[in-house]
Amino acid sequence: MNVILLGPPGSGKGTQAKLISERFEIPQVSTGDMLRNAIAEGTELGLKAQSVMAAGELVSDDVILGIVAERIKQPDCENGVLFDGFPRTIAQAEGLKELGLKIDFVIELEVADEEVVQRISGRRVHEASGRVYHVSFNPPKEPDKDDDTGEPLIQRPDDQEATVYERISVYKNQTEPLIRYYGDYPCSYAVIEGTGSVDAIFESIKTVLLD
Ligand code: AP5
Repeated sequence: MNVILLGPPGSGKGTQAKLISERFEIPQVSTGDMLRNAIAEGTELGLKAQSVMAAGELVSDDVILGIVAERIKQPDCENGVLFDGFPRTIAQAEGLKELGLKIDFVIELEVADEEVVQRISGRRVHEASGRVYHVSFNPPKEPDKDDDTGEPLIQRPDDQEATVYERISVYKNQTEPLIRYYGDYPCSYAVIEGTGSVDAIFESIKTVLLD
């Protein structure tokens, strides 16, 4: 089962992806996490991506398609993949099609801009695992500490308010056209209201995926 999670920054893709990946036993392929790992490791890819990401812009389609093509060759992707934050442009969607992977479900998480800004400004992340929290909406058991490891949580460099507005604008210009693209695609397309509790949203997603 191959699934794409589509939605604006802060719509909860990463949060839901963790739950879907666990429940349906398919790996979460997050291009954002892959790029952040490359930055943390100081690789050539990381060096290229760092300033682009900090500005809230998109990393080039060629680079992204290259890392995705490599990732989906790994044995853990044999029974399915959950794409989180990919594809983000029509060119990436076309590139994915050329890779020959059949897409079964596209799930769009719908969240208003004001909510997105509130969510991203309160987001805290456990860098090593990618676990995501929110200071008010999804707080860790102990403030600023990861529930599982007790390690400190950080704020992402691209979560500054000005960058968030740029990311929303990039989403509207470059990624929103995918709603129409996948609406006409031979796959199941579902729009899920992305506000409400994390569990309730996950229940709606499960209903779609188990259909
Ligand atoms: P990426 O890491 O993909 O970021 P994004 O798409 O902007 O999405 P976010 O991670 O900000 O949000 P999310 O939807 O995962 O929400 P989350 O679950 O964290 O990309 C980062 C950058 O990398 C891009 O800007 C670009 O530069 C580059 N990049 C990545 N992929 C690329 C590609 N394919 N092509 C080109 N460039 C690429 O939730 C947000 C917050 O809300 C959290 O605090 C969470 O706890 C909280 N929350 C979640 N659900 C709820 C709820 N139901 N109610 C209340 N709060 C909630």
